[in-house]
Amino acid sequence: MSKLSITWLGHATFLLQSPGGKKILLDPWVTGNPASPESAKTLGALDLILITHGHSDHTADAVAIGRASGAQTVAPYEVAVWLGSKGLKNVTGMNPGGTLQALGLSITMVPAVHSSSVEEDGKIIYLGVATGYVITFENGLTIYFAGDTSIFGDMRLIGEMYHPQIAFLPIGDLYTMGPEQAAKACELLGVKQVVPMHYGTFPALTGTPARLRELVEPKGVEVLELKPGETAA
Ligand code: NI
Ligand code: MN
Repeated sequence: MSKLSITWLGHATFLLQSPGGKKILLDPWVTGNPASPESAKTLGALDLILITHGHSDHTADAVAIGRASGAQTVAPYEVAVWLGSKGLKNVTGMNPGGTLQALGLSITMVPAVHSSSVEEDGKIIYLGVATGYVITFENGLTIYFAGDTSIFGDMRLIGEMYHPQIAFLPIGDLYTMGPEQAAKACELLGVKQVVPMHYGTFPALTGTPARLRELVEPKGVEVLELKPGETAA
């Protein structure tokens, strides 16, 4: 088995290749994503697409990429039904607390503190709760993908129960945590590596990896800062 490879496709969109070779896309937003690299346009075949909540910066390309890639899509229940209504097949709905065994991976949906909706014809349609994922790979490596969220005290519980080694945390502020809350989240989760996300896409997202680094490096936490299109393996 090889290591987990992590490619940032800008904003909250990541392509993971599991140690067993499975390709997993998280929160697909490519079209209209100002941070999306050229490589995001040619993803090819995928095994799994995971979606945390309904907002368009996490779902805009779910139907198109889901269809083209042949992947199974996993989403919060109401988002799954909505994607199905848009013509996407092979969608599995979940709710927080649930664990799905698929493709040799263990995928647990966990809570997030955030909203979940889409806008259609100028109206907001609510799509249940926002979520995050704990993913355990074939070799036992466990990651926590927070999705969009504030800090919350039960991150400590996620740390105690699942012992993630890497946390993917939003740091852009305004719509999610900023670096200060993300730094405290690393402590609650007990992680030694953090991948910052949901920053730099537009000027309103002011949190920076540099600020996160100032806060967590003295505590022995490594910030895995990627450029859009870059891969850490
Ligand atoms: Ni959101
Ligand atoms: Mn978002």
